[in-house]
Amino acid sequence: MKELDAIRGEVLGAVETAADLAALDAARVAALGKKGRITGLMKTLGGLEPDARKAAGAALNEVKMAVAEAIEARRRVLERGAMAGRLEAERVDVSLPVRPESAGHVHPITQTIDELTAIFAEMGYSVAEGPDIEDDFHNFTALNMPEEHPARQMHDTFYLPHRPDAEGGSTVLRTHTSPVQIRTMMNSTPPIRIIVPGRAYRSDYDMTHTPMFHQVEGLVVDETTHMGHLKGCLIDFCRAFFDIDDLPLRFRPSFFPFTEPSAEVDIGCRRSGGELVLGNHGDWLEILGCGMVHPNVLEMSGIDSSRYQGFAFGMGIERIAMLKYGIPDLRTFFDADLRWLRHYGFVPLDMPSMAHGLTR
Ligand code: DAH
Repeated sequence: MKELDAIRGEVLGAVETAADLAALDAARVAALGKKGRITGLMKTLGGLEPDARKAAGAALNEVKMAVAEAIEARRRVLERGAMAGRLEAERVDVSLPVRPESAGHVHPITQTIDELTAIFAEMGYSVAEGPDIEDDFHNFTALNMPEEHPARQMHDTFYLPHRPDAEGGSTVLRTHTSPVQIRTMMNSTPPIRIIVPGRAYRSDYDMTHTPMFHQVEGLVVDETTHMGHLKGCLIDFCRAFFDIDDLPLRFRPSFFPFTEPSAEVDIGCRRSGGELVLGNHGDWLEILGCGMVHPNVLEMSGIDSSRYQGFAFGMGIERIAMLKYGIPDLRTFFDADLRWLRHYGFVPLDMPSMAHGLTR
């Protein structure tokens, strides 16, 4: 028994002082392994008288349990220490500023979409999306442009090969983001407050037109919305986006089939010597179209036009990006020229927000 006490003391000592998991395992094998000291003592039990064997067996078992428990306790301590050490060694300071020399830039279109999303999100809008490949119904008919409507011709539509099973007439590349108005109204109930940033396509190519471009659509539908809300919303948006507190806006009567009344919006500017400067300078520049949603559009989207009304707007994303960032040629957006992107691109991870500022 004296011997057992000594072994117990030594084994527990080895367990408690094991410096790492490997040393702990060595201590475990030395005590409880096949050739371990405690295992060795277990083997001698068979040669004892029954009474002595019972007493010695109980004592040995107690030691075995105590050792196993001590090993477990030590293992937990060492594992925790190993994890803490690893966390310390692999530490990353996420608050460090982005390295300015890092390769890769955010394209001005992506940046502009992030900026306008931050502004409209602050006003309570959410972002909706729809397919680039549309059917005639959503792209035209439901927007109050029945077949043969003259406004269809202004769109230079890309038609896709006819599919006999296609619902909603022929299939097109959407010519504007407005069909997402229809999809949203058909799939939800008012109040609706969405913006739709996305691609649009028209068969056109020159200094100011590319066959693929981006628009952002806006749609608000509820029971009390009126033209004053539309004006306030767009005034706030333009002033925040261009970061000009007194930027004047002019709402000029216009026509769109899907709104009544309709307006085009101009912002204040000055043109001198081929240069364009935004602000309260007496001259005007058109930047977007808008209006109150036409009752026919509400009805075709399954919304009761005697109860609900709303406003909509649409603007070109390249256009407002060119104005804000002084980019002279639309076509360069899609040239994939790395020098252009390095010059006009934005630092990644600097997400625009109303709290931190849109552009840094
Ligand atoms: N869909 C129009 C276009 O592509 C832009 C537009 C004008 C959208 C007025 C609207 C709106 O929602 O109300 O030319």
